[in-house]
Amino acid sequence: MSWTSAEIENATLGRASAPFEVGGLSIDSRKLRPGDLYVAIKGENRDGHDFTAAAFKAKAGAALVSKKVEGGPTVAVANTQRALEDLACAARARSDAAIVAVTGSVGKTTTKEMLKLAFGALGPTHVSGASLNNHWGVPLSVAGLPRGAKFGVFEIGMNHFGEIRALVGFARPHVALITAVAPAHLEFFGTCEAIADAKSEIFEGIVPGGTAVLPADSPYVERLAARARQNHVTHILRFGSIPGCDGRLLAYEEAGEGARIKAEILGKPVDARIGAPGLHIASNALGALLTVAAAGGDVLNAAAALKEFTALKGRGARFAAGGIDVIDESYNANPTSMIAALALLAKATGRRIAVLGDMLEMGPESAALHAGLAPYLEAADLVFLCGPLMKSLWDAMPAKRRAAYAASSAELAPTVTAALQTGDTVLVKGSNGSRMSVIVEALKARGA
Ligand SMILES: Nc1ncnc2c1ncn2[C@@H]1O[C@H](COP(=O)(O)OP(=O)(O)OP(=O)(O)O)[C@@H](O)[C@H]1O
Ligand SMILES: [Mg+2]
Repeated sequence: MSWTSAEIENATLGRASAPFEVGGLSIDSRKLRPGDLYVAIKGENRDGHDFTAAAFKAKAGAALVSKKVEGGPTVAVANTQRALEDLACAARARSDAAIVAVTGSVGKTTTKEMLKLAFGALGPTHVSGASLNNHWGVPLSVAGLPRGAKFGVFEIGMNHFGEIRALVGFARPHVALITAVAPAHLEFFGTCEAIADAKSEIFEGIVPGGTAVLPADSPYVERLAARARQNHVTHILRFGSIPGCDGRLLAYEEAGEGARIKAEILGKPVDARIGAPGLHIASNALGALLTVAAAGGDVLNAAAALKEFTALKGRGARFAAGGIDVIDESYNANPTSMIAALALLAKATGRRIAVLGDMLEMGPESAALHAGLAPYLEAADLVFLCGPLMKSLWDAMPAKRRAAYAASSAELAPTVTAALQTGDTVLVKGSNGSRMSVIVEALKARGA
C-alpha cells in the first residue's frame, strides 16, 4: 500500500468521496495495475477524465480528478497536475531512501536501468518507469516512491531552460548525476555551453550535503563544476578516463555479448562484467558506480549486478533475423550517440552496414552536424541513408561506401532488405521522429 485517501487529502487539499487505499499510481488506463490510483491528467490532445471509466474497468483503486466522475472512489482536486506534484512532494518528504536524479544529453535511461540493477542488489529500489522524465513523468515517478524503499532513482529530461529546475524540486536528490553534455535539442539552446547550463539546474535541487557526479571527459566538466559550486554543492565527483578522477576507467575489453571493465571508484579497485558492449555503455556504468559510492552503497556488490544489464530496445539491443545481425538504435540519435554506435559497428565481423536516418532538433548547424559524420562512416562497408537532413551526409561521404539514399525510411526499407546477405551486421539508427523503426520491422519481417 502506498497511499490512503486521508494521506492524499492531506497532501493535495482535495476531498475523498470514500475512504480507500491504493498501491501505485498511473495516468494511463491501459497500463494501470489493479489497486492503483488513476490520475486524470489533461494533456495537449486528450483529457484523462475521458478514461476514468476505462481505469475503473481496469480495477483502479481510486481516481484523482478535477471533474465529477462515476465508477469508483475519487479524490476531487482543483488541478490534477498540481495534485500529482503535491503527492510527489509528500512521497519525497516521508521517504528515508537515498535519492538519485539522473540527467544528461544521452545515456539517462541506460544509466537509470544500470542503477536499478546496482541499487537493486543492495536493497529495495524504486526507479522511474520507461522514459518518464518530463513534467508529469517525474512527479508521477516520485509520487510512486514506496514506503520502505532504500533507494530511489529518477530520470529527468528537458528541452528548455527551467524544466530541470522545476523537476528536480520533486526528486530533491542526495546525488545528482549528469551522464554527458552533447548536442541534443540544439535547436532550442544554440550552444553546448547553454545545454551544460540547462543541465546544471539539477544542482539547485540537491539536498544540503549532497553530491554532484559529473562526466570528467566532457569539455564542459569545469563549467558544470562551477555551476555546482555556485549552488553550494561542495561534494563534486568526476567519472571518466582521465587520471585523478574519482571514478576512473582503467581498462575496457569486449567479451562475449558484453564487456569487461576494470575501474577505480573512490580509490577502490572494481572489476565488472557488463552485459552490453560499447565504451559509451562503459562510461554510463562508471557514472552509475560512482553514484552508488556517493549514495553510500557497496560498490562491489553493485558492480556484480551490472552483468545483468543488456542493451535496451531501440538503444543498442541486438537481434538475429534470417542470418543477419541487427543493432536496433532506432529510438534516438544525435552526433554523440551516432559516433558511439558506429564505433560498435566497426567491430562487427562480416559486412558492416549502416542504415541511418535524420538527427532531429539540431538547429541551424544541422547540415554541418550531419555532414560531420562522414569520417566515422569508415566504420561501415556500405551506408544507406534516408531523410532530408541526411542528404548533407550523402553528399559529403566517400563515394565508395554509398549504397542508397531515399527521402524516407519507408522508401529506403525495401532497398536495404534486398541488398543484405547472410553474415551482415546492420546498424539502424536515427531520431525517433525519423521512423527508423520501419526499417527494423522490415528486417524482422525479412528474417521471418
Ligand atoms: N554515454 C553515452 N555516450 C554516447 N551515446 C550514448 C551514451 N549513453 C547512451 N548512448 C546512446 O544514446 C542513445 C539514447 O540512450 P538513452 O535512451 O539511454 O538516453 P536518454 O538520455 O535516456 O535519451 P532520452 O532523452 O530520449 O530520454 C542510445 O542510442 C544509446 O546507445
Ligand atoms: Mg530516456
